[in-house]
Amino acid sequence: MGERVLTGDRPTGKLHLGHYVGSLRNRVRLQEEGYDCYILIADVQALTTHWDRQEELSRHVREVTLDYLAVGIDPERTTICIQSMIPEIHELTMYLSMLASVHQLFHNPTLKSEAQQLGINFALEGKKGRLELNYGFLGYPVSQAADITIFKAKLVPVGRDQVPHIEFCRKLVRKFNRLYGGGEEILIEPIAMVGGAEGEPSPLERWYWSYRPPSLDLSLEGFLARYTDLSLAEAAGLFSDEASPADSEAGFEKLAQGVAKLLAEHPTESNLPAESLVQWAKDELIRLREIGAQDTKGVLKGITGDEKMSKSLGNVINLADDYDEIWAVIRQGVTDPGRIHPTDPGRPDVCRVYAWHQVFNPEGEPTVRHQCVHGLRGCVACKKELAARVDEILAPIRERRHQWEKRMDEVDEILIEGTRRARQVAKQTISEVREAMKINYFSPARVAAD
Ligand code: TRP
Repeated sequence: MGERVLTGDRPTGKLHLGHYVGSLRNRVRLQEEGYDCYILIADVQALTTHWDRQEELSRHVREVTLDYLAVGIDPERTTICIQSMIPEIHELTMYLSMLASVHQLFHNPTLKSEAQQLGINFALEGKKGRLELNYGFLGYPVSQAADITIFKAKLVPVGRDQVPHIEFCRKLVRKFNRLYGGGEEILIEPIAMVGGAEGEPSPLERWYWSYRPPSLDLSLEGFLARYTDLSLAEAAGLFSDEASPADSEAGFEKLAQGVAKLLAEHPTESNLPAESLVQWAKDELIRLREIGAQDTKGVLKGITGDEKMSKSLGNVINLADDYDEIWAVIRQGVTDPGRIHPTDPGRPDVCRVYAWHQVFNPEGEPTVRHQCVHGLRGCVACKKELAARVDEILAPIRERRHQWEKRMDEVDEILIEGTRRARQVAKQTISEVREAMKINYFSPARVAAD
């Protein structure tokens, strides 16, 4: 089994094309590549903003499950589970909440902007929103950290907006392990999988963080300075934001050498013969770098000109939509405003319809560009072609969804079985957590006798 991957969604309705591009197709790929994939339906997290929509919850849980199955998530290989049915997550949330800084939560940019969108007053004093800030909403990053760490997930494929939550989770894990681990990694620091957005760690850094032996408390630069002939400053230079491709190549070589040396010193960390260590380290690095390169940027911009696709903006194409529904959104697509007649030369780079061709019609995209630039195609025809392409992608998904809709009993069975499997893992982690925190006062056998 490959490394453990965890993703989650709030069940607040059907999933849409933005979810598909930003995350779902990535999950299917990871599943195909043999990763040990978990998907959590975060129904308790949905309650943080939808606490009064209890009537819809059960339907929404099933809608997202149908969408997973429709895009090709295979319940034999990917464990789909329901958050509220795993009490160990809520227990771990409570323990982690002691380590979570309220100050940091108030400075979480994603929480802030979500609060603003929802009209929640995100401050202790003053009234800036219609709704009062509730404790659960402020704390959902803590519960999300529990979602991830209860399964000891290493990789978390998410859209860019989720990165602050993963960073927060990493902080909690470090604090937890430092306090309670006694030198051991009880919880695992996860890595967010999103494409090279600014301020995010490079794939090499992520690699270092995920493969670093737990006993080694060194920064990436510190590690290089100790295990290669680089000085601290040289090491920092190779991995800085301004590093050239040649620098990162050099950094890559050095890192592989350093890792090989480290493993040679700590034979217990690997059971490879010394002469294959450098090659092994390189292969691992290349693999991680490829994951980084394949990351999507995580956001599909709205075709109507908005920053993203979202229910509240009315520009959503659901995975379950048919051609007419697809066309109803795409026909409103924002094109080059300077273009009046189909024969005017167009500027694809300011056109959302073209941006979508890049995502959904990569083979046709060069022709689209050429014809647009030379005034050889009209915008309506261009939108029609795009809608046909999107319809082609969604047709098999829609078809699989229809098939599953006729087998709702089986869908329920998948959820029950997935949750049961997930709970086994969660129970194991929570018992390690309790032991580390010394809140296991009695032998399990004695307690079980009750
Ligand atoms: N907050 C995520 C979102 O809104 C959903 C989520 C819940 C999640 N738990 C998670 C994502 C754990 C990744 C890992 O999309």
